[in-house]
Amino acid sequence: MSSAFVVILAAAFFFGHLPRSSYTLPCSPGQCQLSDACTNSRECSRGLFCSACAADGDAASACHRYQATDVISIKGGLAFNKYSWLTTHNSFAILGEPSQTGPRTTFYNQEDTVTDQLNNGVRAFMLDMYDFLHDIWLCHSFGGVCYGFTAFEPAINTLKEIELFLASNPSEIITIFIEDYVTSANGLTKLFTAAGLKKYWFPVSSMPKDGGDWLTLTEMVSRNYRLLVFTSNITKESSEAIAYNWRYVNENQYGDSGMQSQTCTNRAESVFKCQE
Ligand SMILES: *[C@@H]1O[C@H](CO)[C@@H](O)[C@H](O)[C@H]1NC(C)=O
Repeated sequence: MSSAFVVILAAAFFFGHLPRSSYTLPCSPGQCQLSDACTNSRECSRGLFCSACAADGDAASACHRYQATDVISIKGGLAFNKYSWLTTHNSFAILGEPSQTGPRTTFYNQEDTVTDQLNNGVRAFMLDMYDFLHDIWLCHSFGGVCYGFTAFEPAINTLKEIELFLASNPSEIITIFIEDYVTSANGLTKLFTAAGLKKYWFPVSSMPKDGGDWLTLTEMVSRNYRLLVFTSNITKESSEAIAYNWRYVNENQYGDSGMQSQTCTNRAESVFKCQE
């Protein structure tokens, strides 16, 4: 855990809440646009909310978007890989999530519940899964072990939120990336079965292995292949038919260095060459 990071977060939080007695709004109330400074959400245009993003180092509040465009509504029928899908990292590390295992000491990445993330347009979730308390839990932990102070909740709770969304939205498609520390026998298979998610499973045999096009959205919806699951554990593709992430997924370098359009470096595990 980096103490420097903690300090930066604390500072951003503090400055974001300084009194603003001398503050003048740069736009008419209710008309402020994306990135305009604001003091509360009523000043922002529809679909925007006022907040400081501590993770971005924002000291002052600005109007932020809270809903992503649902790409399915723009144009259906293209190959799955032709769309961009909003993904949350550590989707389960939600600020304010009550602890069932005593005080928690870890980082938080999200403010929305998973159901709110879904309703706001998130279509892919990065979930860290661990064997814990004779079950599989979502934990933001280290060393491959979940502790009471790094635990969030049993994974099935979150998967059931996703199941409910898939059941209620028959043309939506969800992806789950598992950072996988589960070693209990057939643990993930049992978990996804218990959550009622097996019926939406996109089979590994239909995934392109050469970087080629995926099935189209129309095909995926008509076959009910609406849940893509990837694991970080290479052994589970042959043992449990869960796709090994780095055989199918290309990721640019996380953090700022992966967002420079000229260099566009991949993270080390990515199989494919970086595409400009
Ligand atoms: C992958 O899963 C298998 C089967 O549960 C387990 O034996 C192995 O230790 C896991 N590997 C890693 C790197 O976690």
